[in-house]
Amino acid sequence: MAPMADKTELLQLKKEIERHNKLYHEQDNPEISDAEYDALYQRLKELENILGADQDSPTQQVGAPSSRKFEKHNHLKPMLSLSNVFSDDDFYKFEERVLKRLNTDKTTFSVEPKFDGIGISLTYENGKLTKAVTRGDGETGEVVTDNIKTIVKVPHVIEHSSPKTIEIRGEVFFRLDDFSNINSKLEADNLKTFVSPRNAAAGTLRNLDIEIVKQRPLDIFFYGIGGHSDDANYKSYEEFVNFLKKNNFPVCDLISFGNAEHVVGSVAKILSSREDLDYEIDGAVVKVNDFLHQQKLGFVSKAPRWAVAWKFPASEKYSKVTDILFSVGRTGIVTPYATIEPVLISGANISNVTLHNMDELSRLDIKVNDTVLVKRAGDVIPQITKVNADVRDGSETEVNIPNQCPSCGNTLKTEGPFMKCDAGMSCPAQLLGYFEHFVSRKAMNIDGLGYKINESLINLGFVSQVADLFKLRQHESKLKSLEGFGEKSIDNLFTSIEAATNPTLEVFINSLGIPEVGESTAAALARHFKSFDVLRSASFDELMGIDSIGDVVANKILNFFKSDPIGIDALLEVLEVQNFQLGDLDHLDGLKIVITGSFDEYSREELKDLIKERGGIPSSGVSSNTNYVILGENPGSKHKKALDLGIEIITEENIKPFLKI
Ligand code: IVH
Repeated sequence: MAPMADKTELLQLKKEIERHNKLYHEQDNPEISDAEYDALYQRLKELENILGADQDSPTQQVGAPSSRKFEKHNHLKPMLSLSNVFSDDDFYKFEERVLKRLNTDKTTFSVEPKFDGIGISLTYENGKLTKAVTRGDGETGEVVTDNIKTIVKVPHVIEHSSPKTIEIRGEVFFRLDDFSNINSKLEADNLKTFVSPRNAAAGTLRNLDIEIVKQRPLDIFFYGIGGHSDDANYKSYEEFVNFLKKNNFPVCDLISFGNAEHVVGSVAKILSSREDLDYEIDGAVVKVNDFLHQQKLGFVSKAPRWAVAWKFPASEKYSKVTDILFSVGRTGIVTPYATIEPVLISGANISNVTLHNMDELSRLDIKVNDTVLVKRAGDVIPQITKVNADVRDGSETEVNIPNQCPSCGNTLKTEGPFMKCDAGMSCPAQLLGYFEHFVSRKAMNIDGLGYKINESLINLGFVSQVADLFKLRQHESKLKSLEGFGEKSIDNLFTSIEAATNPTLEVFINSLGIPEVGESTAAALARHFKSFDVLRSASFDELMGIDSIGDVVANKILNFFKSDPIGIDALLEVLEVQNFQLGDLDHLDGLKIVITGSFDEYSREELKDLIKERGGIPSSGVSSNTNYVILGENPGSKHKKALDLGIEIITEENIKPFLKI
């Protein structure tokens, strides 16, 4: 850390901390660890002690937390995750494994919805609620007792048969009406809305401002038991549920108990009632009822062997197409999309759906005013899967396919199923698209350039290529006099532009926005060529020499440098360095890494590529030469071997820091 106190560093830190506060409290999407945050905060205080603190500093806000943190607490018993089943077959296999391990021919299960909310653990001591703790990393969570106490349904005392100590687990969520009211209010106040009820629940539960929490009616269902004293002697989940009900803990009334056939029928019932529920569920949870059986079955990695999440398929809903429009991306491809009457699907409010290309338009035979089926699977972008032609009433109108670019009027070309505007950076939409990419966090990371400001800068003629961004200072006085451009925000903008003039090679390559070249390919190119000039003059064969690059990408790179749509030389002139340094791309150099099991966020192939890009060697068998094992769900014997040999294990939640993504 720089020992000297300098105003630029102070301004940047302030902005950075404000951004992290937002990510953490409003979007529930922190980018840095608490320790990293604390270090930034302490440094800001240090600088302010020397240079003085502005009124608007995050350290000066009323009730400013000395840190953004809630207090931490270790769960008596870890809060686990669940392995998944997706079909009757999967479930019967689960039953078979359970019976085999128990050495029995029957056992009873519980079935209930899997609530799409946020897990919470409530500790009662001598019958009194003493702590409410979030799941956190499963071992340690944050103490949010005051926020939980805003939920009127949460009992503060256990009246009947309270054990000395008990952790009671449940899920905090919003009902759909409440969620839409919250978003309407945020919208009316010109604030960012939540993308889903789950996201809203997370953001509210971990909000440091109790007044905000009080205004939002969180709800809760209880479904589990954590650590407890010996006097809590329920023999089954059913007995525990009865204890919960007797003490007024809200339990979902769709819960039932029975054999495997009963489970299959109940899950089907829950699935069919899904659309009628006024809260979001993303599956059902099936648990072995008998606690002795649960104990015998135990755990594997972080999930119990006695329970599974039965995941439901992506939900689909009908909506109406209000218009079909065309947007121009940074590469000039013109993409049709439908605006629809907003619908909430798998937790997200959908109002725009991409139609991909012209072929898709004719395949669907879609018209404005059509009723369409919209589907969204998890994080996947929403799709229109079907047009319901049976309910057409004559009010439908044909799509107006443009011949000219909707942004610059240039005549469009056809490239296979795509329409393309080849005006390059002289087309405002392409310039804007390119700008958005260039300034984004994973590219040059220039803060303060939102869509609106970018658009104004382009419309005002201050920037016609990205290099102009670095010459904005010459328009300083004009910019500051414009409506919507506060003096302070312009100063901050200059600070972050200046801070961006020294990118690493991989960041610079990624910023160029070469079609098909994302973060990981940019890293592979940087690692391989080590110099921008060498990359820029590389031949097809040299590009093909890189493992993760095939002929399509190689040609895109060659074309990009040949046509240079963005003004690379002008950009190199304004950047401080032309001999870019490599970032920390090879921290896994020579390390042997074994991947076992499956992962939510990555395929094994992706993980292998990421390891290779960082110089690591993906290996198949675990031996004493192995440096790390990356452990997913349902790992094989490699897990045990790694444990036996004492090899360091990386679990899915630690993959990002491990790979430095
Ligand atoms: S039982 C080991 N029951 O799903 C037992 N969990 O993927 C796990 N969840 O962290 C808890 N609804 O936050 C259970 N009816 C339900 C649930 C449920 C939602 C969440 C819970 C857990 C996650 C596991």
